[in-house]
This record gives sequence, structure tokens and C-alpha cells, in this order.
Amino acid sequence: MILTVTLNAALDRTLSVPNFQVSHRHRASSSLALPGGKGVNVARALKRLGQPVIATGLAGGRTGTTIIEELTGEGILNDFVRISDESRTSTAVIDPTSNLQTEINEYGPAVSEPELGVLIDKLRYLARGADVVVLAGSLPREVPPDFYGELVREVRRHGVVCAVDATGRALRSALSAEPEVVSPNRREAEEVVGHEFESDEEVALGAESLCQMGAGSALVHDETGCVARLRDGRVRRTWRARLEPLPEVVSTVGSGDAFLAGFLAATYAQEPPEQALRMAVACGAANTQSLGAGVFDPADMEALARQVVVEPIDHPG
Ligand SMILES: Nc1ncnc2c1ncn2[C@@H]1O[C@H](COP(=O)(O)OP(=O)(O)OP(=O)(O)O)[C@@H](O)[C@H]1O
Ligand SMILES: [Mg+2]
Repeated sequence: MILTVTLNAALDRTLSVPNFQVSHRHRASSSLALPGGKGVNVARALKRLGQPVIATGLAGGRTGTTIIEELTGEGILNDFVRISDESRTSTAVIDPTSNLQTEINEYGPAVSEPELGVLIDKLRYLARGADVVVLAGSLPREVPPDFYGELVREVRRHGVVCAVDATGRALRSALSAEPEVVSPNRREAEEVVGHEFESDEEVALGAESLCQMGAGSALVHDETGCVARLRDGRVRRTWRARLEPLPEVVSTVGSGDAFLAGFLAATYAQEPPEQALRMAVACGAANTQSLGAGVFDPADMEALARQVVVEPIDHPG
């Protein structure tokens, strides 16, 4: 079983607004509201891939109740800690005419020390039945970034594989506790490593830096695919996975989450690294074909997987 942890769960509203312009009044041509936050999106994508998954995290107020009810309605097993402050609502505006996407994300609720304590207790309990724990997404207000490191240490204490999708100080804190997998997008990896990457070689070196900072494996992805430094027994190998040609997209929200789900589902099924990277890129790309984070058609995923080129590359330097 895979457990996902979403500290800053959200109700994600996606509005499709043709010819979207700031300071204009618009009507949305379609809209969708789904429980979200990165861990929840990963859980949805894992369920779609047929993986047993439980979603936990923090949920509060009426929005929190809606998140839990809707997850249950989707058939995603969940066990959230209820908190007193209100969970956030995130809004994405997709313009189908320009294909541009605007995201407005609230910071999220204030969370108290005792509430974080209850979450840690729940994590201890649920991690005992888990093979993999995914910690994903931003931290609610007033939760110190070091909390990510604490959670990774807790998961590792149980001998459970830990995968992290976080940014900035939270990612740095997680790295210090040596998670098995991190999967930042290119921009997020550049920020933590401290400089921009100009070529695939520099992305590979960036992925290696993330490993030096504590990751077992680092998958740095962008819209064209990923460059990954993967641990294979005692050694690490560098891989590049590319999707060619790139499809027309409907919405990229949650593509990185579907990417991580694809990688974990394949790895969990004992697939070799090449197949895991192929699944990752295909799930990320399939996620772009419809509205909703972690929503994709398995048939799209399979067709896209055939267009992913995966190759081991010599590690630069
Ligand atoms: N425009 C696109 N066309 C095809 N595939 C895409 C596109 N954008 C993203 N993907 C796929 O999704 C994966 C991750 O995408 P991206 O780098 O945008 O993630 P992200 O920024 O972490 O997204 P999020 O945080 O919203 O989940 C990529 O590896 C790629 O396979
Ligand atoms: Mg991401």
C-alpha cells in the first residue's frame, strides 16, 4: 500500500475561460472542483493506475469536510486529521484559446502544535501498513519548513520508502533526512541547487547535487520529460526520458504529481528503471490531456508511453 500525506489539502477549482484577460469580467465555459493538494493528486493518479493507496493529511472546516467527502465519493481511501482552521481553495484559470494557465493558490490554514502531533501519531500508525509514503506539497501557515525533515525521519524509522515532492526550505529540510526519492520540476531543482541549468548535462549534475544533499534518487522533470539520477543497489545511474512529439495540452495542473505517481506505481510493481521513467513521463503527459490534477485516461497514458524515449546517459564530469 502507498500512503500519501498532504499537509495543505485544498479544494481545487479549475475554470475554463476563453480569451481570459485581467481586469475583465468573464464567464467560465466549464468548471471542475476536485480535492487537491499534491499528495491528494498523487493518490488519485495511483488509484487510476490500480495501486492500493490511502490519502492522509490535514483537513479543516467546511472545505475540509468537502475534501474528505469528495475523496470518499471518488473511492479514494482516506484518513485525514481534522483541524480547526479552514482548508484552502485553489483556483486555476485555463484559457483554451491561448492555452495559457493562471493559478491562484491560498496559503492555507493555521495549524497548531497539538494538531501536528496528532498527524505524526497518525503517520506512525498508517506507515506500519505502508510500503511507500509520499510527502507532497506546500506547508500550511505557521508550520516550520523543518517539519518536512521530521516527517521523513519518522517514515524512515519504520523502514518505509519515502518519496518527497516539496520546494525551497521544505525540500532542503526533507533532503537532510535522506528520502529515497525526490521529484522536483526543473525550476524547483534549480532553486534548491542554487543555480540555473543550461543543458541536460547541467540538469544531470543538478540531480546529482540533490543526491549529495541526501536523496537516494532524484528525478528532475520539465514539460519535455525528465533527467534522473537513480539509485540501483550501491550505484547511481543517470537517465534521460523524452516524449516526442509533445501533445497539445488542455491543462498541465498536477502533471508533476501524475509523473511521480507513474514512477512509484512502476517501481512498486518491480519494473526496471527504464519502464518506471517511461510510465512517469507518460502519466505526466496523459494528465495534460484533460482538466483535473491526477485525472487521466489510461488509454492515453499507454499510447503516450510508446512515444517516450528512455536512455541511460553517461554522467557528466
Ligand atoms: N506541455 C506538456 N506536454 C506534454 N507533457 C507535459 C507537458 N507539461 C508537463 N508534461 C509532463 O508532465 C511531467 C511533469 O510536468 P511539469 O514539469 O509541468 O510538472 P510540475 O511543474 O511539477 O507540475 P505540478 O506541480 O502542477 O504537478 C513532465 O515530465 C511531462 O511528462
Ligand atoms: Mg510539481
